[in-house]
Amino acid sequence: MTQTDSERILSLLRQMSLDDKIGQLWLVQSDEGRVSERLASSIREGRVGGVLNEVDPSVVDELQRIAREESPHGIPLLMGRDVIHGFRVMAPIPLGLAATWNPQLVERCARRAGEAAAAVGINWTFAPMIDIGRDPRWGRIAETFGEDPFLIRAFGAAMVRGFQGGDLSVPGAIAACAKHFAGYGASEGGRDYNTTSVPEIELRNVHLPPFRQLVQEGVATFMASFSDLNGVPATANAFLLDQVLRQEWGFDGLVVSDWNSVIELRTHGLTADDRGSALESAAAGLDMEMASDAFAAHLADLVREGHLSEERLDVMVGNILRVKERLGLLDASPPASPSASSIESSLHTAYEAAVESIVLLKNEGDVLPLSGVGKLAVIGPLADDPYEQLGTWAFDGDPSLSQTPLGAIRGQAGEMQVEVCRALDTTRSTGTNGFAEAVAVAGRAEVALLVLGEEAILSGEAHCRADITLPGAQEALIEAVASTGTPIVLVVMAGRPLALTNVLPHVEAILYAWHPGTMAGPALADILFGGRSPSGKLPVTFPKHSGQIPIYYAHKNTGRPPTPNTVVSMEDIPVRAAQTSIGNTSFYLDVGDQPLFPFGFGLSYSAFEYANLRVSASELAMGETLTVEVDLTNVGGCEADEVAQLYVRDPVASVTQPVRQLRGFQRIRLASGETKEVVFTLHTDDLAMVNRSMEWVTEPGRFEVGIGGDSRAPLAAAVEVRA
Ligand code: GLC
Repeated sequence: MTQTDSERILSLLRQMSLDDKIGQLWLVQSDEGRVSERLASSIREGRVGGVLNEVDPSVVDELQRIAREESPHGIPLLMGRDVIHGFRVMAPIPLGLAATWNPQLVERCARRAGEAAAAVGINWTFAPMIDIGRDPRWGRIAETFGEDPFLIRAFGAAMVRGFQGGDLSVPGAIAACAKHFAGYGASEGGRDYNTTSVPEIELRNVHLPPFRQLVQEGVATFMASFSDLNGVPATANAFLLDQVLRQEWGFDGLVVSDWNSVIELRTHGLTADDRGSALESAAAGLDMEMASDAFAAHLADLVREGHLSEERLDVMVGNILRVKERLGLLDASPPASPSASSIESSLHTAYEAAVESIVLLKNEGDVLPLSGVGKLAVIGPLADDPYEQLGTWAFDGDPSLSQTPLGAIRGQAGEMQVEVCRALDTTRSTGTNGFAEAVAVAGRAEVALLVLGEEAILSGEAHCRADITLPGAQEALIEAVASTGTPIVLVVMAGRPLALTNVLPHVEAILYAWHPGTMAGPALADILFGGRSPSGKLPVTFPKHSGQIPIYYAHKNTGRPPTPNTVVSMEDIPVRAAQTSIGNTSFYLDVGDQPLFPFGFGLSYSAFEYANLRVSASELAMGETLTVEVDLTNVGGCEADEVAQLYVRDPVASVTQPVRQLRGFQRIRLASGETKEVVFTLHTDDLAMVNRSMEWVTEPGRFEVGIGGDSRAPLAAAVEVRA
């Protein structure tokens, strides 16, 4: 309990029996569209604190009525749902949203989704997911905001503002959830639910900052991760749930387990049975149990027998009641239901997000935007699939609202002829019997548009891939179409970075669309025909080969970094070369050390130049602020957006630091020929790191800074921070 808790909460706790208190700790799976006697009686008896996965408004209303009118204390329910990147109308998957580098836009996406969910009675979403995404084999990289903590912090905070607004009791606001706490993105081998071994200094420098940011942003809830973190699964990890979250960060909301992860403590080998799992997780700092019923079955005995104190139980219940109070659920009259946000406004926001999420990776010979094309071939299984373009975690997405690329292209074709060939049944198909038709259609066209990638089911939770090339016979299809000599524009829809090394030589242009959501069609068509210039930037590094993983820009220098003259390709090594003749630096003989595309990369239909990098001072005292400026010019032929990125490096520190780290970004629209002064500020606190004593400190010394259009920006200026 906190001394500032309202009298309402304190009074409720005084009135509640042991069983009443334990009833608040259970988040129960719904019956999805009906009110079963099982669920109704559990609520009526006060044994349920929340329900998840019910989206039928009449059922939600009845469950809440039972809780208010027929349970012992009339405490309403939390109604939870994974509102991850939309509700009915889907925005791009979070990895695509991150490619917009536009937190304000993503905040609007969250606001629209939250309003739509609240209109059916949802008051809690299990989002944003702010795990670090550095392993494209991991299916859940689709749900992340990419590889960089600074970018993830910005987007996670934007989503919390979007879902929660400034006051959770305002109609349309829903409680957000920082998940999965913590270190889930470090699952070994990119295999979901696998072990995570993360040294504390790495945890604090990389994985925890986004979660700390969301506490400062006022996120209402946290979700513990499934994973075993350094030998203690997060669900029962007191270091995470108590020391860091409560004692260091002062979080006062609720912590919920992930699905069945309490009883999975036994499977991990941490406990011998559900009773032990209930005790370990409750004592470590978990408040609410999702799905499984170990708390319901064992906590009363554990308290009566003195294994778990009633004080700890009161803290657990208090955390839950505090969130309910903030949602207005403890008010005498139920919070007014919001009017559903208009579908039109959701579609518009989803369109803007889709347009800004699409990344132009290649545009040889300026084949894009399409102009003067008399006949276009549209080939591939994802060109016209209303469902697959929505991506993973689209439970409530409505494919009937989807506008597909083919539909939108036809709408803008004008005099241009469009010939279509699916060529493959699905993205996993290995049969090539559709290739002959694809080759014929492409041979008759001036440009071949191939829309390929991954079906939604190939990404997301538990859907990991060891080989991240295009699945099925898609690479072969590209080569077959390329044999016609018709220029190829490749559009990729996927939930992860794919290793496109083999296809790169065969295509003139690549647009990476992630899973772009409901408005995939208009967004792609507007970019293909030049109505909009592509402006997305990669929030994650693209490997050349699965074997390079993990590969990310903010890596350490090592003691033997590769340099252009030490990297030798396998083919160039002389036969019987002496053991030490090819040097000893850190790279792969077969694929080198560089990614296919770097973090922050993205082309435009225009072009941008950065000049006159300058800093406001050559020295800084602790607590002072540096201004870093550059002149950005649109030297291309059309108006376009550029995302200018600020990177810093601490080349000498008491703990080795990455070769560079993102510390600022701005999306800027410039007309052709226009120059703008781009200004960033850096406070000495922005240069801090976690030292050997696990303290966030800024160490005196030299810091390098640079601004550019991707993570290769030269660090061409420096500042000396004085003690
Ligand atoms: C899932 C996911 C979690 C989600 C929860 C409820 O297993 O791990 O992210 O919020 O269960 O659906």
